[in-house]
Amino acid sequence: MNFQPEIITWYLNNKRELPWRNTSDAYIIWLSEIILQQTRVEQGMPYFNRFLSRFPTVKDFAAASEAEILKLWEGLGYYSRGRNMLHTARAVMELHGGIFPTQYDTLVKLKGIGAYTAAAISSFSAKELRAVVDGNVYRVLARYFGIDLPINSPAGQKQFAALATELIQGQDPSIYNQAIMEFGALQCKPKVPLCESCPLRPDCFAFKHHQTQLLPVKLKAAGKRVRHFNYFVIEQDGLVLMKQRSAGDVWQQLYDFPLVETAQEHYADPEMFQKAMHELFGSIPVLRPVINKKHVLTHQIIYVQFFALDNNITNFNTKAGFKWLNSEALMAVPKPNVINDFVKFYLTKL
Ligand code: ADE
Repeated sequence: MNFQPEIITWYLNNKRELPWRNTSDAYIIWLSEIILQQTRVEQGMPYFNRFLSRFPTVKDFAAASEAEILKLWEGLGYYSRGRNMLHTARAVMELHGGIFPTQYDTLVKLKGIGAYTAAAISSFSAKELRAVVDGNVYRVLARYFGIDLPINSPAGQKQFAALATELIQGQDPSIYNQAIMEFGALQCKPKVPLCESCPLRPDCFAFKHHQTQLLPVKLKAAGKRVRHFNYFVIEQDGLVLMKQRSAGDVWQQLYDFPLVETAQEHYADPEMFQKAMHELFGSIPVLRPVINKKHVLTHQIIYVQFFALDNNITNFNTKAGFKWLNSEALMAVPKPNVINDFVKFYLTKL
Protein backbone atom coordinates (compact mmCIF):
# COMPACT_ATOMS: atom_id res chain seq x y z
CA MET A 1 0.00 0.00 0.00
CA ASN A 2 1.39 3.38 -1.05
CA PHE A 3 -1.08 5.55 0.78
CA GLN A 4 1.15 7.18 3.41
CA PRO A 5 4.30 7.71 1.28
CA GLU A 6 2.23 9.16 -1.57
CA ILE A 7 0.44 11.54 0.80
CA ILE A 8 3.68 12.64 2.42
CA THR A 9 5.50 13.19 -0.88
CA TRP A 10 2.53 15.13 -2.16
CA TYR A 11 2.57 17.23 1.03
CA LEU A 12 6.25 18.07 0.83
CA ASN A 13 5.73 19.29 -2.74
CA ASN A 14 2.43 21.12 -2.31
CA LYS A 15 2.04 22.35 1.26
CA ARG A 16 1.18 25.92 2.07
CA GLU A 17 3.57 27.89 4.23
CA LEU A 18 1.49 28.57 7.31
CA PRO A 19 2.78 30.38 10.38
CA TRP A 20 1.69 27.70 12.84
CA ARG A 21 3.52 24.96 10.95
CA ASN A 22 7.05 26.06 11.82
CA THR A 23 6.71 25.71 15.55
CA SER A 24 6.44 23.02 18.17
CA ASP A 25 5.07 25.50 20.71
CA ALA A 26 1.89 23.84 21.99
CA TYR A 27 0.34 27.20 22.90
CA ILE A 28 0.71 28.52 19.35
CA ILE A 29 -0.59 25.26 17.89
CA TRP A 30 -3.57 25.31 20.24
CA LEU A 31 -4.35 28.90 19.23
CA SER A 32 -4.28 28.04 15.53
CA GLU A 33 -6.25 24.82 15.86
CA ILE A 34 -9.10 26.35 17.82
CA ILE A 35 -9.39 29.20 15.33
CA LEU A 36 -9.21 26.80 12.37
CA GLN A 37 -12.07 24.74 13.77
CA GLN A 38 -14.15 27.81 13.30
CA THR A 39 -13.10 29.05 9.89
CA ARG A 40 -10.99 28.40 6.81
CA VAL A 41 -7.25 29.07 6.68
CA GLU A 42 -7.47 32.35 4.73
CA GLN A 43 -10.08 33.79 7.06
CA GLY A 44 -8.45 32.38 10.18
CA MET A 45 -5.01 33.82 9.47
CA PRO A 46 -5.72 37.43 10.52
CA TYR A 47 -7.39 36.19 13.71
CA PHE A 48 -4.39 34.00 14.47
CA ASN A 49 -1.99 36.90 13.92
CA ARG A 50 -4.04 39.27 16.06
CA PHE A 51 -4.35 36.80 18.93
CA LEU A 52 -0.68 35.89 18.86
CA SER A 53 0.59 39.46 18.73
CA ARG A 54 -1.74 40.52 21.53
CA PHE A 55 -1.01 37.37 23.58
CA PRO A 56 2.50 36.07 22.79
CA THR A 57 2.32 33.54 25.62
CA VAL A 58 -0.36 31.62 27.45
CA LYS A 59 0.36 33.80 30.47
CA ASP A 60 -0.68 36.90 28.50
CA PHE A 61 -3.78 35.10 27.29
CA ALA A 62 -4.76 34.02 30.80
CA ALA A 63 -4.53 37.61 32.03
CA ALA A 64 -7.03 38.88 29.45
CA SER A 65 -10.61 39.81 30.26
CA GLU A 66 -13.47 37.83 28.76
CA ALA A 67 -14.63 40.98 26.98
CA GLU A 68 -11.28 41.36 25.24
CA ILE A 69 -11.25 37.73 24.11
CA LEU A 70 -14.80 38.02 22.79
CA LYS A 71 -13.88 41.22 20.95
CA LEU A 72 -10.88 39.58 19.27
CA TRP A 73 -13.01 36.52 18.52
CA GLU A 74 -15.74 38.68 17.00
CA GLY A 75 -16.81 37.43 13.58
CA LEU A 76 -15.77 33.82 14.11
CA GLY A 77 -19.08 32.84 15.69
CA TYR A 78 -19.61 30.10 18.27
CA TYR A 79 -18.40 32.36 21.06
CA SER A 80 -18.23 29.62 23.67
CA ARG A 81 -14.99 28.56 21.97
CA GLY A 82 -13.44 31.92 22.83
CA ARG A 83 -14.68 31.66 26.39
CA ASN A 84 -13.37 28.10 26.70
CA MET A 85 -9.96 29.29 25.53
CA LEU A 86 -9.76 31.77 28.37
CA HIS A 87 -10.78 29.06 30.82
CA THR A 88 -8.10 26.75 29.45
CA ALA A 89 -5.36 29.41 29.44
CA ARG A 90 -6.10 30.06 33.11
CA ALA A 91 -6.11 26.32 33.87
CA VAL A 92 -2.71 26.01 32.20
CA MET A 93 -1.39 28.75 34.51
CA GLU A 94 -2.89 27.19 37.62
CA LEU A 95 -2.47 23.48 36.98
CA HIS A 96 0.56 23.32 34.71
CA GLY A 97 2.71 26.23 35.86
CA GLY A 98 2.16 28.14 32.64
CA ILE A 99 3.60 25.38 30.45
CA PHE A 100 1.09 24.37 27.82
CA PRO A 101 0.73 20.55 27.99
CA THR A 102 1.77 18.45 24.99
CA GLN A 103 0.44 15.06 26.06
CA TYR A 104 -2.84 13.86 24.59
CA ASP A 105 -4.18 12.52 27.89
CA THR A 106 -3.50 15.81 29.66
CA LEU A 107 -4.83 17.93 26.81
CA VAL A 108 -8.24 16.22 26.54
CA LYS A 109 -8.96 17.21 30.13
CA LEU A 110 -8.83 20.90 29.22
CA LYS A 111 -11.97 22.80 28.28
CA GLY A 112 -12.66 23.06 24.56
CA ILE A 113 -10.02 20.45 23.69
CA GLY A 114 -11.57 17.29 22.27
CA ALA A 115 -10.05 14.26 20.55
CA TYR A 116 -9.20 16.15 17.37
CA THR A 117 -7.48 19.12 19.03
CA ALA A 118 -5.60 16.92 21.52
CA ALA A 119 -4.35 14.74 18.66
CA ALA A 120 -3.29 17.79 16.65
CA ILE A 121 -1.44 19.48 19.53
CA SER A 122 0.24 16.32 20.83
CA SER A 123 1.33 15.12 17.40
CA PHE A 124 2.52 18.51 16.10
CA SER A 125 4.27 19.64 19.27
CA ALA A 126 5.62 16.35 20.71
CA LYS A 127 5.28 13.86 17.85
CA GLU A 128 2.91 11.72 19.90
CA LEU A 129 1.46 8.96 17.73
CA ARG A 130 -2.12 10.24 17.65
CA ALA A 131 -4.13 10.38 14.44
CA VAL A 132 -6.15 13.51 13.71
CA VAL A 133 -9.60 12.88 12.27
CA ASP A 134 -11.24 16.04 10.96
CA GLY A 135 -13.52 16.67 7.97
CA ASN A 136 -10.58 16.51 5.57
CA VAL A 137 -9.41 13.18 6.93
CA TYR A 138 -12.92 11.67 6.80
CA ARG A 139 -13.18 12.66 3.14
CA VAL A 140 -9.79 11.30 2.09
CA LEU A 141 -10.25 8.00 3.91
CA ALA A 142 -13.88 7.48 2.83
CA ARG A 143 -13.00 8.03 -0.81
CA TYR A 144 -9.69 6.20 -0.99
CA PHE A 145 -10.79 3.16 1.05
CA GLY A 146 -14.43 3.19 -0.05
CA ILE A 147 -15.97 3.51 3.42
CA ASP A 148 -19.68 4.32 3.29
CA LEU A 149 -20.50 4.34 6.99
CA PRO A 150 -21.80 7.80 7.89
CA ILE A 151 -19.02 9.96 9.30
CA ASN A 152 -21.40 11.33 11.92
CA SER A 153 -22.66 7.95 13.19
CA PRO A 154 -21.04 6.23 16.19
CA ALA A 155 -20.17 3.17 14.08
CA GLY A 156 -18.65 5.36 11.37
CA GLN A 157 -16.61 7.41 13.81
CA LYS A 158 -15.27 4.24 15.39
CA GLN A 159 -14.23 2.75 12.08
CA PHE A 160 -12.60 5.94 10.75
CA ALA A 161 -10.71 6.47 14.03
CA ALA A 162 -9.46 2.87 13.98
CA LEU A 163 -8.31 3.14 10.36
CA ALA A 164 -6.62 6.51 10.97
CA THR A 165 -4.78 5.07 13.98
CA GLU A 166 -3.66 2.07 11.94
CA LEU A 167 -2.37 4.29 9.14
CA ILE A 168 -0.28 6.58 11.33
CA GLN A 169 1.75 3.69 12.82
CA GLY A 170 5.37 3.98 11.76
CA GLN A 171 4.92 7.49 10.34
CA ASP A 172 6.24 10.83 11.57
CA PRO A 173 3.00 11.83 13.34
CA SER A 174 3.50 15.54 12.87
CA ILE A 175 4.16 15.36 9.14
CA TYR A 176 1.67 12.61 8.35
CA ASN A 177 -1.19 14.34 10.19
CA GLN A 178 -0.50 17.69 8.53
CA ALA A 179 -0.13 15.94 5.20
CA ILE A 180 -3.46 14.11 5.17
CA MET A 181 -5.33 17.24 6.28
CA GLU A 182 -3.62 19.38 3.67
CA PHE A 183 -4.28 16.75 1.03
CA GLY A 184 -7.98 16.85 1.90
CA ALA A 185 -8.05 20.64 1.86
CA LEU A 186 -6.20 21.19 -1.43
CA GLN A 187 -6.42 18.01 -3.55
CA CYS A 188 -9.26 15.76 -2.40
CA LYS A 189 -11.59 18.76 -2.18
CA PRO A 190 -15.24 18.35 -1.15
CA LYS A 191 -17.13 19.33 -4.29
CA VAL A 192 -14.51 19.29 -7.03
CA PRO A 193 -11.69 16.90 -6.14
CA LEU A 194 -8.66 17.26 -8.42
CA CYS A 195 -8.62 13.62 -9.51
CA GLU A 196 -6.82 14.33 -12.79
CA SER A 197 -3.65 15.36 -10.97
CA CYS A 198 -4.05 13.05 -7.97
CA PRO A 199 -1.17 10.72 -7.08
CA LEU A 200 -3.58 8.39 -5.22
CA ARG A 201 -5.88 7.93 -8.18
CA PRO A 202 -4.63 4.45 -9.26
CA ASP A 203 -5.80 2.89 -5.99
CA CYS A 204 -8.67 5.22 -5.07
CA PHE A 205 -11.94 3.34 -4.55
CA ALA A 206 -14.15 6.37 -5.18
CA PHE A 207 -12.37 7.31 -8.40
CA LYS A 208 -12.55 3.76 -9.72
CA HIS A 209 -16.26 3.42 -8.89
CA HIS A 210 -17.32 6.97 -9.80
CA GLN A 211 -18.26 7.70 -6.22
CA THR A 212 -16.32 10.85 -5.37
CA GLN A 213 -19.62 12.73 -5.17
CA LEU A 214 -21.22 10.07 -2.94
CA LEU A 215 -18.43 9.73 -0.40
CA PRO A 216 -18.13 10.52 2.44
CA VAL A 217 -21.68 9.77 3.60
CA LYS A 218 -23.11 12.13 6.19
CA LEU A 219 -26.45 11.73 7.95
CA LYS A 220 -28.65 14.75 7.59
CA ALA A 221 -28.86 16.76 10.76
CA ALA A 222 -32.23 17.10 12.47
CA GLY A 223 -34.15 20.19 11.40
CA LYS A 224 -32.84 23.46 12.72
CA ARG A 225 -34.81 25.51 15.19
CA VAL A 226 -36.30 28.54 13.42
CA ARG A 227 -36.52 31.82 15.37
CA HIS A 228 -37.57 35.38 14.63
CA PHE A 229 -35.71 38.25 16.30
CA ASN A 230 -37.17 41.74 16.02
CA TYR A 231 -34.60 44.34 16.97
CA PHE A 232 -35.35 47.96 17.86
CA VAL A 233 -32.65 50.45 17.05
CA ILE A 234 -33.10 53.35 19.43
CA GLU A 235 -30.85 56.38 19.10
CA GLN A 236 -31.03 59.45 21.28
CA ASP A 237 -28.51 62.29 21.43
CA GLY A 238 -25.84 60.18 19.75
CA LEU A 239 -26.35 57.27 22.13
CA VAL A 240 -27.70 53.88 21.17
CA LEU A 241 -29.59 51.57 23.48
CA MET A 242 -27.94 48.16 23.86
CA LYS A 243 -28.23 45.17 26.14
CA GLN A 244 -25.72 42.55 27.15
CA ARG A 245 -27.20 39.12 26.48
CA SER A 246 -27.53 36.79 29.40
CA ALA A 247 -26.59 33.14 29.77
CA GLY A 248 -28.63 30.26 28.47
CA ASP A 249 -29.12 31.32 24.86
CA VAL A 250 -27.12 32.16 21.76
CA TRP A 251 -24.53 34.95 21.93
CA GLN A 252 -24.23 35.02 25.71
CA GLN A 253 -22.39 38.08 27.05
CA LEU A 254 -22.46 39.74 23.62
CA TYR A 255 -24.37 42.99 23.08
CA ASP A 256 -27.47 43.45 20.98
CA PHE A 257 -30.39 45.86 20.64
CA PRO A 258 -33.68 45.71 22.54
CA LEU A 259 -35.36 42.61 21.22
CA VAL A 260 -38.75 41.01 20.87
CA GLU A 261 -38.66 37.41 19.78
CA THR A 262 -41.75 36.18 17.99
CA ALA A 263 -42.81 32.66 17.07
CA GLN A 264 -43.39 33.71 13.46
CA GLU A 265 -42.69 36.84 11.41
CA HIS A 266 -43.77 39.90 13.35
CA TYR A 267 -46.64 40.63 10.93
CA ALA A 268 -48.09 37.10 11.25
CA ASP A 269 -49.52 37.86 14.67
CA PRO A 270 -49.71 41.65 15.12
CA GLU A 271 -51.57 41.46 18.42
CA MET A 272 -48.93 39.30 20.02
CA PHE A 273 -46.18 41.54 18.63
CA GLN A 274 -47.81 44.69 19.98
CA LYS A 275 -48.34 43.10 23.36
CA ALA A 276 -44.66 42.14 23.55
CA MET A 277 -43.58 45.65 22.51
CA HIS A 278 -45.87 47.15 25.13
CA GLU A 279 -44.22 45.01 27.78
CA LEU A 280 -40.80 46.16 26.62
CA PHE A 281 -41.49 49.87 26.07
CA GLY A 282 -44.57 50.61 28.13
CA SER A 283 -46.13 51.96 24.93
CA ILE A 284 -46.38 50.96 21.29
CA PRO A 285 -43.64 52.72 19.33
CA VAL A 286 -43.81 53.85 15.71
CA LEU A 287 -41.71 51.39 13.77
CA ARG A 288 -39.76 51.84 10.56
CA PRO A 289 -38.47 48.54 9.14
CA VAL A 290 -34.87 49.00 8.00
CA ILE A 291 -33.59 45.63 6.83
CA ASN A 292 -34.00 41.94 7.48
CA LYS A 293 -31.36 39.23 7.52
CA LYS A 294 -31.24 35.48 7.75
CA HIS A 295 -28.60 34.27 10.17
CA VAL A 296 -27.70 30.58 10.07
CA LEU A 297 -26.10 28.93 13.09
CA THR A 298 -25.21 25.28 13.68
CA HIS A 299 -28.56 24.36 15.21
CA GLN A 300 -30.70 27.41 14.57
CA ILE A 301 -31.83 29.71 11.81
CA ILE A 302 -32.53 33.20 13.08
CA TYR A 303 -34.53 35.59 10.95
CA VAL A 304 -33.60 39.06 12.06
CA GLN A 305 -35.69 42.17 11.41
CA PHE A 306 -34.29 45.57 12.35
CA PHE A 307 -36.66 48.44 13.09
CA ALA A 308 -35.74 52.06 13.57
CA LEU A 309 -37.71 53.99 16.16
CA ASP A 310 -38.27 57.59 15.28
CA ASN A 311 -40.20 58.75 18.31
CA ASN A 312 -38.38 59.27 21.57
CA ILE A 313 -38.71 56.50 24.07
CA THR A 314 -39.10 58.26 27.38
CA ASN A 315 -40.48 55.66 29.69
CA PHE A 316 -38.05 52.92 28.81
CA ASN A 317 -37.52 50.40 31.53
CA THR A 318 -33.84 50.97 32.26
CA LYS A 319 -33.92 48.47 35.09
CA ALA A 320 -33.80 45.63 32.58
CA GLY A 321 -30.04 45.80 32.01
CA PHE A 322 -30.08 48.18 29.07
CA LYS A 323 -27.26 50.61 28.51
CA TRP A 324 -26.93 53.77 26.43
CA LEU A 325 -23.66 53.48 24.52
CA ASN A 326 -21.84 56.23 22.66
CA SER A 327 -20.37 55.35 19.28
CA GLU A 328 -16.96 54.51 20.72
CA ALA A 329 -18.39 52.13 23.30
CA LEU A 330 -20.71 50.70 20.68
CA MET A 331 -17.76 49.79 18.48
CA ALA A 332 -15.77 48.42 21.41
CA VAL A 333 -18.26 45.97 22.91
CA PRO A 334 -18.40 42.43 21.45
CA LYS A 335 -21.42 41.86 19.25
CA PRO A 336 -22.83 38.99 17.18
CA ASN A 337 -22.00 39.26 13.47
CA VAL A 338 -25.49 40.22 12.48
CA ILE A 339 -25.47 43.17 14.92
CA ASN A 340 -21.95 44.19 14.00
CA ASP A 341 -22.82 44.30 10.28
CA PHE A 342 -25.87 46.38 11.03
CA VAL A 343 -23.88 48.84 13.12
CA LYS A 344 -21.24 49.16 10.39
CA PHE A 345 -23.48 49.45 7.35
CA TYR A 346 -26.80 50.87 8.46
CA LEU A 347 -26.63 52.67 11.76
CA THR A 348 -25.06 55.83 10.37
CA LYS A 349 -27.62 55.90 7.55
CA LEU A 350 -30.81 55.69 9.61
N1 ADE B 1 -7.01 22.98 9.58
C1 ADE B 1 -6.99 22.53 10.83
N2 ADE B 1 -5.73 22.46 11.30
C2 ADE B 1 -4.94 22.89 10.31
C3 ADE B 1 -3.55 23.07 10.18
N3 ADE B 1 -2.75 22.78 11.19
N4 ADE B 1 -3.09 23.52 9.00
C4 ADE B 1 -3.95 23.80 8.02
N5 ADE B 1 -5.24 23.67 8.07
C5 ADE B 1 -5.75 23.22 9.20
